[in-house]
Amino acid sequence: MIPYVPLERRSFRLHMGLRPLEPSRWLEFDEDAEAVLALRSRLIDSERARVVALDEAGLAPSAELLGVVLEHLARWHPARARPVGCDHPLVEAARLVEEDLCVMVREDAWRLRAAVVCFPSRWDLREKIGATLREIHGPVPGYGAALGGPVDAFFERIGEGRAHWRLNWTLLDTPDLFVPDAARAAPSGDLADWYFRVERQTFRRLPESGAVVFTIRTYVARASELAERDPEFLGALTDQMASAPPATQAYKGWVGVVERLEARRRASSRPGR
Ligand code: HEM
Repeated sequence: MIPYVPLERRSFRLHMGLRPLEPSRWLEFDEDAEAVLALRSRLIDSERARVVALDEAGLAPSAELLGVVLEHLARWHPARARPVGCDHPLVEAARLVEEDLCVMVREDAWRLRAAVVCFPSRWDLREKIGATLREIHGPVPGYGAALGGPVDAFFERIGEGRAHWRLNWTLLDTPDLFVPDAARAAPSGDLADWYFRVERQTFRRLPESGAVVFTIRTYVARASELAERDPEFLGALTDQMASAPPATQAYKGWVGVVERLEARRRASSRPGR
């Protein structure tokens, strides 16, 4: 079962939701680690053009990041330390951890200069390499007005030794981790066919290069199992989705889902059920 279910008990809002991160909790491993690491390695080998994107400007910070990952594993997850090969250092780092890894470099603006993203949630890494934070988020409705300034300012402030994390979620009709197609069709079927997908994202600065490392750890759970475990899950999910602006619902691929959830909620609250 997934460790985070970030449904707020209030209307949907676009917000940073940043929290300070304990250094020991930067990377997370769970009981599925071996299967996830094997899948990551397979995708790096078979889908390299879609999951790996490297610019020259990302090489030095990637080498620094590999060292930081190895130090972190040696200190906090010694059983996970492994010898590394001689591929690009970011690729070597990405084979060791369950997180996707992105390196942002400060130039005229913060730009994505190296990334290994095996588990994208409906976006294409090839369109994002070299882009600024605002360009990357171009398709996200409301990002420029609500988050563009605060996210840029946050990146300037990320201090050495002061890492942060945040959570993001959506609903899809697949448990697959590799979902690179940008198509935003609404999930087909009903609750039994849907999956709650959570991203745990972290941000930290690398001391030598000053680059920022953005990690994305993806967790997926059956929506029906979450509903069985927590009687408030369905109500909170429906309220969050229903209160999102229409453009956000379209972007998230939620069109029509709210109606199906509300019908289910009405049916289950009818007397005698
Ligand atoms: C505090 C920093 C950040 C915030 C608050 C933020 C927020 C968001 C939000 C709200 C979305 C919409 C996704 C959804 O709701 O399902 C999004 C999408 C996305 N974010 Fe961020 N983000 C941050 C940093 C980054 C960074 C550093 C990257 C670098 C790779 C990134 C890459 C993306 C991508 C690729 C998408 C999908 C865009 C698309 O649909 O084409 N984000 N982000």
